[in-house]
This record gives sequence, structure tokens and C-alpha cells, in this order.
Amino acid sequence: MVDERRRSTEPPMDLLTMLLEARDEDTGEGMSDRQLRDEAITIFAAGHETSANAMSWTLYLLAKHPEVMERLRLEVAEVLGDRPPTFADLRRLQYTRQVIEEGMRMYPPAWAVGREAIDADEIAGQYIPRKSIIFISIYALHHHPDLWENPEIFNPDRFSAEQSKERSRWHYLPFGAGPRMCIGNNFAMMEMQIVLAMITQKFRLKLTDDQAVEMEALITLKPRNGVWMEVLR
Ligand code: HEM
Repeated sequence: MVDERRRSTEPPMDLLTMLLEARDEDTGEGMSDRQLRDEAITIFAAGHETSANAMSWTLYLLAKHPEVMERLRLEVAEVLGDRPPTFADLRRLQYTRQVIEEGMRMYPPAWAVGREAIDADEIAGQYIPRKSIIFISIYALHHHPDLWENPEIFNPDRFSAEQSKERSRWHYLPFGAGPRMCIGNNFAMMEMQIVLAMITQKFRLKLTDDQAVEMEALITLKPRNGVWMEVLR
């Protein structure tokens, strides 16, 4: 595809074209085929599956909590009516954002991150030898009863400005933290707000009967057999 696109005389204005046209600010050079391929794969692996899983889990939670769904529907109707969202609408879709944040608390798409200790260290009395691999379970953090009240209950109000004020920023890490934190976090939040608002505007989703939705923790946290829903207009 990269090769084809390089030869194309009328390339569509999409991500691949943007990457092809990008130039290094210092050297003026474009990317090699290998770099272009790596960038495209990153968008799929880091940027697509994560947000897609967040949306699946959030829609699953909404289907199980009609009162939250109704509040979301009211906000979307009030802010947008029938028209598609614009960038300016996003900050007014506050509850929509809270629903997504709470969805990612309960089911963090990136459920764990790993680090290698560059040197020996001690964390909370625990000796860490040099070169150890440390796993930080974001899932455990997001469900820890010392950090969250009723952690197993889906409650988007936790992320209201009021209730978020007192919370340490280290209790909620859907996008990681530190120098290797997700670089797509703002993009992802924007994308998910748009997707959720537009799905809410157009459809009602109902879980099909008798389904046991199970978690499968691979690189990302996904519903093992998907989430099966009836899509109603
Ligand atoms: C809901 C959506 C997303 C979630 C939950 C998520 C989560 C994360 C997390 C937890 C990390 C840190 C990994 C670590 O500390 O080892 C990370 C890194 C990264 N993410 Fe995301 N991400 C999302 C969307 C995106 C999108 C949309 C993009 C690109 C458009 C993206 C690109 C990246 C990249 C390139 C890194 C590596 C950054 C580095 O190592 O410096 N992510 N992501």
C-alpha cells in the first residue's frame, strides 16, 4: 500500500498520505517505507484496538445501566439535537466523557504496563534487583477498595469535576503515566466522545439474552467472545 500510494497521482487525503508528506523539521527528510509501515501498524495496534475495546465495554455497561444511558441520551439531545458533533461541542459533552472515563476505570483497555528496572531499587520495603521486570496492574489499581468507593459499581459521577477534585492522579491511569505515557490520549478521548455521542443519537443497543460476557486479558483487555447486541433505531 505504501508503494502504491507513492506512485499515486491523486492520493486521497488520509493518514497514509499525511505520513508520506510529513517532513523532519531539522533535516527536511521524509520517512522510509519501513518507518511508514511501522507508523501505520502503531495506529492499528496502539490506537485502534484500545479505543475499540473501550467502546465495547462502555456500551456493554450502558446496556446494563438504563438510568445512565438515559442521562447520556438527554445530554446528547440537549447539546447536539440531531446534528453531528463538532470539536466545539466536545467540552459540553461532559457526562459523555465521564461515562467513557468510568468505562475505562472498570475495564482499562491497557490493563497492565511493564517496566525493566535499570538499577537495583526499593519500593515500599520491597527489594527490586537490577533488570527485574515489573508489572503494574492498572486493572487492580482501578478496582482497589482502598482507592475507590464501591469499585465494582458503574458510576460515571465519580468523574464529575466535584468528585475528581480530591483524587490523586495516580489512582486512575488508563493512559499510563510518566515519560512513556500514551501519546494518543487526547486523540482517543476525542474520538470516543464523538463515537459514543453519535451512537447514542442514532441507536438503542440491547444486550442479547443469555450471554456471559467474559474478560480476556491479552495485550489489551477485551470481551472474550465479543459483546452481542441488538441494534434498534
Ligand atoms: C482508549 C484508547 C487508548 C488507551 C487506553 C491507550 C493506553 C496506552 C497506555 C497505557 C500506554 C502506556 C504503555 C506503557 O506505559 O508501557 C500507551 C502508549 C502509547 N499509545 Fe496509547 N492508548 C490509547 C489510544 C492510543 C491512540 C489513539 C494512539 C495513536 C493514535 C496511541 C498511541 C500510543 C503510543 C505510540 C504509545 C507509546 C508511547 C511511548 O512509548 O512513548 N494510543 N497507550
